[in-house]
Amino acid sequence: MILVVGGAGYIGSHLVKELVEKEEVVVLDNLATGHEEAIDSRAVFVKGDLGNVEDLESIFSKYPIKAVMHFAAYSLVGESVQDPYKYYENNVANTLTLLNVMLKYNVKNFIFSSTAATYGIPKEEIILESSLTSPINPYGRSKLMVEQILADFHAAYGLHYVVLRYFNAAGAHASGEIGENHDPETHLIPIILKQLLGERDSISVFGTDYPTEDGTCIRDYIHVTDLANAHIAALEALLKGTKAAETYNLGNGVGYSVKQVIEMCEKVTGRKANVILSERRPGDPARLVASSDKIYNELGWKAERGLETIIQSAWNWHNK
Ligand code: UFG
Repeated sequence: MILVVGGAGYIGSHLVKELVEKEEVVVLDNLATGHEEAIDSRAVFVKGDLGNVEDLESIFSKYPIKAVMHFAAYSLVGESVQDPYKYYENNVANTLTLLNVMLKYNVKNFIFSSTAATYGIPKEEIILESSLTSPINPYGRSKLMVEQILADFHAAYGLHYVVLRYFNAAGAHASGEIGENHDPETHLIPIILKQLLGERDSISVFGTDYPTEDGTCIRDYIHVTDLANAHIAALEALLKGTKAAETYNLGNGVGYSVKQVIEMCEKVTGRKANVILSERRPGDPARLVASSDKIYNELGWKAERGLETIIQSAWNWHNK
């Protein structure tokens, strides 16, 4: 059985939907930001907190857990600057509690959701896993701290882990049953689609004077189902014992500017967006584009869905 912590959230719920086809799954989620109805009905759901030892022990003592996948983190850069305690408490301290209980029950396979935010403002056009990690906000630091803890736990306690550094997760499940549903919503693609549906008056483009071709920020958008499949490839490698301590980028390797994303949303929906050119949002790097060659070479995973498919799937879901 696989424990998915945070399996009611956006990325966790998409992973669970794929994983239940292959493994028995138990989801632990406190529903702080997740949605119970997003959890596939084939998974066992336990409402509880990863920082609560009793909640964790109730699962590890009851189910034969082979591996843990950990999606339960706060992930808003701006909020992390305003309230770093919230980020270090949940993303670092509570993760440490989870790891400690895992070791107590001799569960030694762990997959960790990390982020492009660990790189800060990268020097490279295409970011490699070996690029310098130098996060510029508490969110990115909280994720990098856990990465460092995992390396130490591998050396000291024989914990086996895979760290997956996501670039910009987007899109929705092909079934149309689950999708991106944050409150408040801060992510670009759902904001554009909500505007095109008439649920918002306008879209602000944060910064038009970046050193990019059209002056807006460039990101590497990756479909959430591609992310889910990368987790399954990582899990298989851990369970087979072919990988024991690895870090992989997960992206498409293609960058799109904010303006290009808006244009693609207009093309997919056949509607015209109401765009306001605004000031930069603090903490946004100009360009974040991943090389995902390492995971392709080692585990055979690559992203299969491009920006148009990402937006089409998100639009199907938002329309529901
Ligand atoms: N943007 C706008 N207007 C909006 C919302 C976003 O112009 O209303 C722009 C942002 O400035 C950015 C791009 O669209 O240039 C993408 O923004 P998102 O908020 O969708 O995503 P981020 O790139 O900020 O965030 C992602 C991950 C974070 C991670 C971060 C690293 O979601 O977890 O990359 O920088 F920390």
